[in-house]
Order: sequence, then structure tokens, then C-alpha cells
Amino acid sequence: MMKRIAICAGSFDPPTDGHINIIQRSLGIFDKVIVAVAVNMSKQPIFSPEDRAAMLKGIFQGNEHVEVDVFEGLLMDYARKRGVFTLLRGIRTMGDYEYESQMALANKTLEPKLETIYMFTEGKYAHLSSSIIKEIIAFGGEGKGMIHPIVERKLKEKLRT
Ligand code: PNS
Repeated sequence: MMKRIAICAGSFDPPTDGHINIIQRSLGIFDKVIVAVAVNMSKQPIFSPEDRAAMLKGIFQGNEHVEVDVFEGLLMDYARKRGVFTLLRGIRTMGDYEYESQMALANKTLEPKLETIYMFTEGKYAHLSSSIIKEIIAFGGEGKGMIHPIVERKLKEKLRT
């Protein structure tokens, strides 16, 4: 049987419970998800690609349906390299919609075989973002219900020392 595989690419700087929720729920649809950490993105990350990938590997340890990888350059080239043309993204708000529609269209223009599949974020994560969580941890808050303990430890190390 042909395996249904999707690529879930992102910055993951750091991964949040919102990301984890989308990836876990998507496994009801896909046999395997490749979580691809981007080296090239518009934002300046605080974690190296290796650190971001290590956090994701820790979170999904023991889950054979999740593979964590790092990619450099265009997502389209990575998709071609892997032979996987289904992209998975989570969508939270109307604000995301605009950016997501541009990205999906850009990717489809570059590689017509690419399809981007969107899943709506669960309500409790709708206002969660990697930037908000960085601010919360930097100013002394706790990450419960928003980030995995592995991520919380790493963020505290990075932002409070
Ligand atoms: O988690 P993010 O920051 O919303 O993810 C954005 C990401 C990494 C998926 C996007 O920036 C990306 O695909 N970067 C690789 C470069 C690329 O292919 N850009 C053209 C597609 S818009």
C-alpha cells in the first residue's frame, strides 16, 4: 500500500504545544509526517536548526510516524528531494490566512505538484505563537499548557542565563 506522507515545515523557534497538536492530529490522516526545520526563514531565530530539531526529536521520541529533519534553501527543493508533495500547515487566525495563502500559492507556482493542506488549530492554542512564548519565558512566566517541558527547559537556559 502506498504510504500517505506529509511534510510539516516550519521555523519551530521553538516548537509549541500548538505545533505538537497539529502534528499529532495529522497522524489520523497521514501515515507519516516529516517535521522539517527550516534553516532559511524571514525571522531571525534564537535557536540553531540543530537545537530546534533536537527539541522536536525529544518531543516525538518513540513515535515511528514522525521523522524530524532539517532543510536548507527552498521548501520546494526539499519536497522534490524527498519525493513528497503534500505540505501540512496549521492555521490559527485570519492573520495567518493571508500569509498562508501567499506561501501556498508561491510554492504551487514554483512546483505545481505541491499541495498545501491546512488544519485549524484547536481553540486553546489559537493565540499561541513561538514569539509570544519567548516573551513569556524571558520575563519570568511559566510555559505550562503552551510548551513541552523539554522546550521550557531549553528556553529558560537560553533566555534567563
Ligand atoms: O513556522 P513558519 O515560520 O511559519 O514557517 C515558514 C517556512 C519555514 C515554512 C517558510 O519560511 C519556508 O518555506 N522557508 C523556506 C524558504 C522557502 O521555500 N520560501 C518560499 C516559500 S514561501
